Amino acid sequence: MSEHGISNLSREDRVFEPPAELAAQANVTADVYDRAAQDRLGFWADAARRLTWGTDFDEVLDWSSPPFAQWFVGGKLNVAYNCVDRHVEAGHGDKVAIHFVGEPGDTRDLTYAELKDEVSKAANAIEELGVESGDRIAIYMPMIPEAVIAMLASARVGAVHTVVFGGFSSDALASRVEDCEAKLVITADGGYRRGKPSSLKPAVDEALAKLGDASPVENVLVVRRTGEDVPWNGDVDVWWHEVVDESSTDHRFTEFDSEHPLFVMYTSGTTGKPKGILHTSAGYLTQAAYTFWATFDHKDDDVYWCTADVGWITGHSYITYGPTANGATQVLYEGTPDTPHKGRWWEIIADKKVSLFYTAPTAIRTCMKWGEQIPAEHDLSSLRVLGTVGESINPEAYVWYRENIGGGSAPIVDTWWQTETGAHMITPLPGVTAAKPGSAMTAFPGVTAEVVDDAGTPVGNGEGGYLVITEPWPSMLRTIWGDDDRYVETYWSRFKAQGYYFAGDGAKKDDDGAIWLLGRVDDVMNVSGHRLSTTEIESALVSHPKVAEAAVVGAADETTGQAVCAFVILRESAGDGGEDVVAELRNHVGKEIGPIAKPRQVMVVPELPKTRSGKIMRRLLRDVAENREVGDATTLADSSVVDLITAGMSGAK
Ligand code: WTA
Repeated sequence: MSEHGISNLSREDRVFEPPAELAAQANVTADVYDRAAQDRLGFWADAARRLTWGTDFDEVLDWSSPPFAQWFVGGKLNVAYNCVDRHVEAGHGDKVAIHFVGEPGDTRDLTYAELKDEVSKAANAIEELGVESGDRIAIYMPMIPEAVIAMLASARVGAVHTVVFGGFSSDALASRVEDCEAKLVITADGGYRRGKPSSLKPAVDEALAKLGDASPVENVLVVRRTGEDVPWNGDVDVWWHEVVDESSTDHRFTEFDSEHPLFVMYTSGTTGKPKGILHTSAGYLTQAAYTFWATFDHKDDDVYWCTADVGWITGHSYITYGPTANGATQVLYEGTPDTPHKGRWWEIIADKKVSLFYTAPTAIRTCMKWGEQIPAEHDLSSLRVLGTVGESINPEAYVWYRENIGGGSAPIVDTWWQTETGAHMITPLPGVTAAKPGSAMTAFPGVTAEVVDDAGTPVGNGEGGYLVITEPWPSMLRTIWGDDDRYVETYWSRFKAQGYYFAGDGAKKDDDGAIWLLGRVDDVMNVSGHRLSTTEIESALVSHPKVAEAAVVGAADETTGQAVCAFVILRESAGDGGEDVVAELRNHVGKEIGPIAKPRQVMVVPELPKTRSGKIMRRLLRDVAENREVGDATTLADSSVVDLITAGMSGAK
């Protein structure tokens, strides 16, 4: 075990080769890595030329004032034209772009020709409302086609959108609107959530009231989705169906510079106010489009479905931009996976014959908890590639996903990337990579990832350290909106001497050099001088048949510095787990990883505190484990979870 490395004590040696048939017809083959390594900029220039340019670029990368990059310098294009119009011009106007499935069961198919009309009308309408190139638009919507249409319309007119997740509060909306000075808010009366209409427009009103006279917002454009009554301010509010539906389907667009800002996506930092991550046009679209095509092996007759919300970066790159830039057909689903029943996702896959499916490990673990008999009731044979994103996937969840959803043969692409990276960075390729459950495997072609020690020196195989990206990439963030200094400080100061981008994640290389993500570096524990990854211990716990989900934190300990504290949700089939479950789970971790990793405490809980994007808020669990007052829980999807956990804990003492 290396002194500086993060210990990798667990064993996972299963390897899944790509299915021969898929490999034989894959969009990219093994030679792509060499090609990209030999001429990295040439490789990205080729990827960029899959787009349609108004004016070709004359320089691939300008890195003369790092860390401020300019990609495809001198080029001009229109992002929305690339995502929509050009497919219609190429004769694919009748192809379905979006199979929309509303939670109540309503459906709507939009072809590329229809999408072009809708985006053009919306573009005309927002210009009519005074939006000009460079202006900001906040989008606060349920998962309905108008969310995608609004984003593409914004891109079409050269405005900069900031999508605020519909589950966020009016406070969150207000701070984002204020930070980027949005002139227009696009929202809906509401959407459907767990079988009921859930309103949105009142939160916009609250946000504007909070901003008061300082509000930069001139208009609120409201889509009618639920038909419920909404408060109305005739000076500001405008119905979508009144202005968009009346607009012309003929919209003359301009071509914008490669580096024209496309959107700002706010992401929470560990402290302080959210950071507005800025992405620009051509580099972002190049990598979103190319990775979609290569990572999912997208073919013209595929039906793709990403279960993310457009309020997250995944929804930007792999719903709104990547798939449409490739002329793909995709499913857009409004609701939750268990409304009206726990087989809803699998029913949609069977119905729409989904072949490429992209979701998050937390969702897979939830489905595992519900039991494999639920997906077994549906015909999932159309699926050929499965993807995950958001956190490392525990080997047990991986194998469950592969067996029960992928029919035992569909390859799984475990894609590591971030809001900041804009698109996939480390991932297996489905027709190339022999994948190991739990590992994101290899840097994407043209991406240079490394694992380094404290001094910035690459670690050897079998060792752990910090994940860095050593060279700029096309879809990299360009800055933090309005705060260049914070951009430099947050991402480029840790390994300043080397000029590396520090991703904030710990990682290790296994004996074959494959990359395993170990969670945020602040999730790494130090127990008696051994650095242990929360993720590895969580994986070990979840590999026990009684455990559905697990979260591990390092809590202060007088003797060992930190001690491992585990919170587990038991599977329904495990009943209450019996009296000895705690001892059984401690021993199990000891056996899987080693005695050093045995949790000091295992607490059986009914729920785990998660943000709305599904990330476990370990900070709160640490408070519980260290017997502290639980800190700010306002970004939790369900704030009552903390009460449930603390109530259970005091009962246990
Ligand atoms: C984590 C989501 C392990 C990681 C696209 C990263 C992952 C953060 C993976 C970014 C993965 C994402 N394996 N960890 N496949 N994918 N992460 O900005 O810690 O919401 O830094 O972007 O999620 O989260 P974000």
